[in-house]
Amino acid sequence: MSLIDDLKWRYATKKMNGEKVPQEKIDYILEATRLSPSSSGLQPYKVFVITDKALLEKIKDIAWNQAQVVDCSHLLVFAAWDSYSDERVTEVFNYTMEQRALPHSTMDDYKANILSLYAPLGQEWQAHHTSKQSYIALAMAMAAAAEQKVDATPMEGFLNDKLDELLQLEGTGYKSTLLLPLGYREDQNDWLVNMKKVRTPKEDFITEISLEDLNSTEA
Ligand SMILES: Cc1cc2nc3c(=O)[nH]c(=O)nc-3n(C[C@H](O)[C@H](O)[C@H](O)COP(=O)(O)O)c2cc1C
Repeated sequence: MSLIDDLKWRYATKKMNGEKVPQEKIDYILEATRLSPSSSGLQPYKVFVITDKALLEKIKDIAWNQAQVVDCSHLLVFAAWDSYSDERVTEVFNYTMEQRALPHSTMDDYKANILSLYAPLGQEWQAHHTSKQSYIALAMAMAAAAEQKVDATPMEGFLNDKLDELLQLEGTGYKSTLLLPLGYREDQNDWLVNMKKVRTPKEDFITEISLEDLNSTEA
């Protein structure tokens, strides 16, 4: 199967059957998620893995009662930094330099640049930026899950503040951004399973442009 076949196979599963996904498949999906690229390599997010049914029931209550939250095998909760700080950025860059056997100071100019760029943009912009990085990781997780023939439902449909409270994220510097239940589709009871996958037609989606095209529309 090619990646394209896997992406055609996957869909935002509405009904899961409660079957357990083997740990090696979960590990594979999490590893693909960890390998996701991020702006400046900061990886300003992490993933919580939840299988505890009592906790999943509580999450369902604040996720518009979406059944996948409890019918899944594992629930991934993506959480991103609430802001950038000198301390956080330094920690990541120091770790990177240690892994590459380079002096910590190697990244000093680059670090000063990004901090001076991000600081005036404010906390809200920063939280939005870190959240965007977690969405890239979500995409990696979904593609890996599809490759493993594990169903997954990307979800923004939950009350972020309530989830942060439930998971006791206050004071940790993380805020929840996304949910990703992983499990197996219940073919017989999922209204979406056999629906045609609909995407913007290629001719509307892809536009090739050149400088010549742009100059000619300007004139
Ligand atoms: C960021 C994001 C948030 C989403 N939130 C939800 C959600 O809360 N509940 C849900 O059932 N589907 C959710 N979806 C699924 C989309 O509706 C679905 O991906 C889209 O309609 C395309 O269909 P497909 O994934 O089945 O190909 C979300 C998708 C994305 C990418």
